[in-house]
Amino acid sequence: MTYMLNRNNFGNRANAGNVLSRHEAEALLNDWVKNERLVLHMKQVGALMRAWALEKEGLDEAGAWKWEMAGLLHDADWDQWPELHCSKIIEELEHREIDPEIIRAIASHGPAHFGVEPETKMDKMLYAFDELSGLVHAYSLMRPEGYAGMELKGVKKRLKEKSFAAGVNRDDIEDACRRVGITVDELILFIIAHQPGA
Ligand SMILES: [Fe+2]
Ligand SMILES: [Fe+2]
Repeated sequence: MTYMLNRNNFGNRANAGNVLSRHEAEALLNDWVKNERLVLHMKQVGALMRAWALEKEGLDEAGAWKWEMAGLLHDADWDQWPELHCSKIIEELEHREIDPEIIRAIASHGPAHFGVEPETKMDKMLYAFDELSGLVHAYSLMRPEGYAGMELKGVKKRLKEKSFAAGVNRDDIEDACRRVGITVDELILFIIAHQPGA
């Protein structure tokens, strides 16, 4: 299934710096997404984006919130409008005159699906965290201790087991890490280290 966006410009440069407040972003999320697993997934990706922006990119609070907001809303339209996935949330954020960087990151979170190449570091990290955090989460659910004590080698074993979390696209994970210029191991370790109870 593909959802080609057939466009490469998102938002308006004049809106740089415009963001939703955390309250507004969460209201949109709760309004559009009824599936609790999906809400959890987006919050998780948002938290990882925030942590990466602060720790690895050295961004300030305002910069980190842009990264977090992209993660928090990237799948917001999936629950109610799967056939419009990505285009619906993009149009909503354009309508709300949100910073184009945030909209672009969301538009490029699955280049093979939406036909938009991740360009900025924010774009690439959202793409990278999306699939892999899903696999790590699935692994935590089958461990009695959840995330606690989770190790790199356990995650890598699941990654190799194609039947485990079969919906998680392994090729996308490899591709995303290559684009960011980090190893899959580094990304796994970052995800493990930034989970509740880790
Ligand atoms: Fe998605
Ligand atoms: Fe996602």
